[in-house]
Amino acid sequence: MARIRKAVFPVAGLGTRFLPATKAIPKEMLTVVDRPVIQHVVDEARAAGIEHFVFVTGRNKGVIEEHFDKQFELESTLRERQKLRELEQLETETPNAGATSFTRQQTPLGLGHAVWCARDIVGNEPFALLLPDMLHHGERPFLADMIAAHETHGGNIIGVYPVGDHETHQYGIVDVGGSTAKVAAIRAMVEKPPRGTAPSNLAISGRYILQPAIFDLLARQERGAGGEIQLTDSMLTLARSEPFHAVRFDGQVYDTGSKIGFLSANVAYALKRPDLGPEFRSIIEGMLK
Ligand code: G1P
Repeated sequence: MARIRKAVFPVAGLGTRFLPATKAIPKEMLTVVDRPVIQHVVDEARAAGIEHFVFVTGRNKGVIEEHFDKQFELESTLRERQKLRELEQLETETPNAGATSFTRQQTPLGLGHAVWCARDIVGNEPFALLLPDMLHHGERPFLADMIAAHETHGGNIIGVYPVGDHETHQYGIVDVGGSTAKVAAIRAMVEKPPRGTAPSNLAISGRYILQPAIFDLLARQERGAGGEIQLTDSMLTLARSEPFHAVRFDGQVYDTGSKIGFLSANVAYALKRPDLGPEFRSIIEGMLK
């Protein structure tokens, strides 16, 4: 069984929902507490054993590359000032030399097209795909559960979580035939089904393990929902010849692409922090009185 070594992060989106915050700053660099959203997702991948981080960027996203680079001036200043804890944190969190790749999606043609842009860097091996908008807040890194499911079942793995009936039209939805198991075979998938037509309320959570055969399908994929090249459409074709399993996430998913999701993530992550949580909780409780 091929090991999952590489993870792809599509970060080319414009972030129009967060203007004016995202006029000059990529939406992936907005912070949840004191870490950029993209850092939280890279942390999850690293904790799950990923060794190579592939970013599909676009115009005005250069600061993401800076963020994952060494900052010599900053590090030497921290050393001079004996801020050793901060220094150590920066050093351990910077990816190893050669462990990142950056490629560009020149035209915003959809998620499927963004993934296809990573084909040469990923090559002929199964890989993880993490959509940075979606933060998975739980006890364990969710991608680790997905990699474990891949070790057992092989094929392709999709992370899912339950959403309300009023939300199903905003996500890819999978049908597992009513199974409530943590890992279940997928019977059907549909991208953003019109209201009232979803086959279940299990939404695709933005975490995938995919076989490299997806790239040839994406190369030929016609535009789908929203006039975009949809990953879900190529996964549907792949599912005719390869198994797909869904893995349920039992923590909380925050869609930081929406303002409410972003604000909720900040509150939830801050409350969980040992250094901030107790004081923050009492401030919020005071506000709600
Ligand atoms: C994408 C996927 C969708 C998934 C969602 C999670 O949609 O196409 O299947 O449920 O991410 O965020 P997007 O949010 O890019 O429209």
